[in-house]
Amino acid sequence: MAEDLKIIQGTKAEQYRHLLPQIQGLLEGESDFIANMANTCAALKEQFGWLWVGFYLVKKDELVLGPFQGPVACTRIKKGRGVCGHCWEHEKTIVVEDVHSFPGHIACSSLSRSEIVVPLMQRGQLIGVLDVDSEKLQDFDDTDRQFLEEVVGMLLAKVA
Ligand code: SME
Repeated sequence: MAEDLKIIQGTKAEQYRHLLPQIQGLLEGESDFIANMANTCAALKEQFGWLWVGFYLVKKDELVLGPFQGPVACTRIKKGRGVCGHCWEHEKTIVVEDVHSFPGHIACSSLSRSEIVVPLMQRGQLIGVLDVDSEKLQDFDDTDRQFLEEVVGMLLAKVA
């Protein structure tokens, strides 16, 4: 397994296209879901320098904080609450251009300005979410949605 990540400059799509095979390489040969989520967060944070990248996992009736990179964060989120809880309720990727305009947004960090949350769907059930926060307004768009959904697909393919 290659433990060194090669970081590149370029358009957002170029950065993702270069990073995704490297994430795939990190996942190869490791079946542990926690380890794979942890390295996925690290790889995304290293390439893009976002404020916060992490996972929340469904445990009973809450999302509970999982592996992440960035400042300390809230540990539990109810269904329907905040962007993550909204993603859980609607089971689709949510792109928030300005977190201050999202009713009920949970501000784990006052530095966060925009956010994307991608559902982790396994056999039709939402088992968690990937949450990414940026200090820049409107930092996420359809390109992020497309590639981050691909990243989540790669991770979930390993848990069968
Ligand atoms: N902002 C999220 C909460 C999680 S933190 O951003 C890490 C939300 O509104 O659900």
